[in-house]
Amino acid sequence: MNYQRAEFVISAAKLRDCPPDSLAEVAFAGRSNAGKSSAINTLTRQGQLARTSKTPGRTQLINFFRVAEGRYLVDLPGYGYAKVPLKVKDDWQVHLEHYLNTREPLAGLVLVTDIRHVFKDFDLMMIDWARQNQLPLHVLLTKSDKLKRGGVQDALQKARLALEGLEDASVQSFSSLKRLGVDVLSQRLDEWLEP
Ligand code: GTP
Ligand code: MG
Repeated sequence: MNYQRAEFVISAAKLRDCPPDSLAEVAFAGRSNAGKSSAINTLTRQGQLARTSKTPGRTQLINFFRVAEGRYLVDLPGYGYAKVPLKVKDDWQVHLEHYLNTREPLAGLVLVTDIRHVFKDFDLMMIDWARQNQLPLHVLLTKSDKLKRGGVQDALQKARLALEGLEDASVQSFSSLKRLGVDVLSQRLDEWLEP
């Protein structure tokens, strides 16, 4: 799949706004500020495709990017941004859960985690959810440029342990800043998105 062809389609506030023609899609989930939008921009080589920010909570809607006919990447709102009013937080959670639990074309989940924080509550919840729903999972340990080689290996090891028992789970380190890990990510996405 040529991810550089990705184009923005819609910011969906609700499930009924999601593209109806999707045959397969991969969602990027993770804590706020983990680097989800940056990872999508790095993968697609389009710096401004998904909006990123130093301020956590930038992505507030479910953003769809078409990579081929009926194939989509989905940038989900980040979880756990404390400064958002409680009501807004509740709404996100409801939309997120609704999306994850009912979206038919969802072929796989990319869980984006800061490599320095393997794993926090939200991540463990998502891993559990993937296990229960038998959804293929790929963990992206982002910001690997922040650690030395030993630290990266330790984080990978820790993540692999937490993923034990899942039928179809994988993990890699990734850096948007240094463009590291893009090929591994593309290959995993191809498994889910190529017809
Ligand atoms: P929300 O939309 O708020 O959920 O955040 P997000 O997960 O989409 O994070 P985003 O991609 O906006 O990145 C958050 C911050 O982390 C930005 O300041 C990015 O520049 C920075 N960042 C993302 N990826 C990397 C990386 O690989 N290395 C480093 N050093 N910084 C990164
Ligand atoms: Mg984002």
